[in-house]
Amino acid sequence: MLAAKGPPGSGSAPEDRMALAGSGEATIDLSYWRGPHGPRPLLALRGASPPSADAVSEAVGRLAAMGLDRVFTEALDEEAALPFLQAGFSVAEELVVLKRSVGRFSRVPRERPAKPPARIVSVDQNRYPEISDLDRRAFPEFWSLAPEGIEDAVRATRSAVVLVAEGMAPAREPHRPLEGPLLGYAILGIEGRTAYLQRLGVDPRWQRRGLGRALATSVIRLARKSTASMLWVNTPTTNLGALAFYRSLGFAPLGRPLLVLHMDLVSGSGLGDGS
Ligand SMILES: CC(C)(COP(=O)(O)OP(=O)(O)OC[C@H]1O[C@@H](n2cnc3c(N)ncnc32)[C@H](O)[C@@H]1OP(=O)(O)O)[C@@H](O)C(=O)NCCC(=O)NCCS
Repeated sequence: MLAAKGPPGSGSAPEDRMALAGSGEATIDLSYWRGPHGPRPLLALRGASPPSADAVSEAVGRLAAMGLDRVFTEALDEEAALPFLQAGFSVAEELVVLKRSVGRFSRVPRERPAKPPARIVSVDQNRYPEISDLDRRAFPEFWSLAPEGIEDAVRATRSAVVLVAEGMAPAREPHRPLEGPLLGYAILGIEGRTAYLQRLGVDPRWQRRGLGRALATSVIRLARKSTASMLWVNTPTTNLGALAFYRSLGFAPLGRPLLVLHMDLVSGSGLGDGS
């Protein structure tokens, strides 16, 4: 999942957002989760404080007037979620937040060779369409990203690196081209002292063969060389495989989950459908 500044689903980069309600310390923006079946509207917060329930209702009213029928929020902590729950939103997903030190003295996970052998390389936006295809296979539809969504994840932090795991030709077949199919990918975002494992996915056909570990280990190495001291990630509470995976890499879960909320605007906003 995306982990920076409240995602998954902080959606489009700040400059692409539209302010709906609130001001200064607590602003609600219209943003989008750009999935393969089109953009999904979501509300993202800006500012140091949670918005008031009135500001949430104002934002909802504006969305209903725009003709939107359903809206989600970005991932919110309990305090930020409260005014949305008071305004009639309900919980769509619960996410566990995990963190691990990437400070100078932190440990890097032990290397284990992946099968098939893969090389981990950083790539640019030319590979986003291919990465998005893999993302669709690795994640449930609700969470999958179009190429534009991959770009949003990259732009969510001040700096970011996109890594891919590419299959390598076996040493005994040197005539085969080195560049193989995409087996997995990861996005690391850095914002000062904080690093975010924004996305990590392995092709379902190649899971449980050490590729996720190889990608995450590369991410940890890069984060350790950056300005960051802590690496954060989040994943749905129901994703038990990913939770076991992150624990095996030294991540520890925090007690309080993040909440992704949703509301059907016509019935939820009290605006009615006119009938
Ligand atoms: C989570 C994910 C990235 C793990 O990648 P992977 O290549 O399958 O994992 P690895 O083979 O490197 O696993 C390393 C270790 O993590 C743990 N682990 C990984 N998947 C696990 C699972 N489903 N159940 C229990 N433990 C698991 C194991 O300890 C494993 O070591 P082992 O196989 O020697 O027992 C991959 O399953 C995936 O892409 N899932 C779908 C997308 C997703 O959930 N992304 C991350 C959360 S947002």
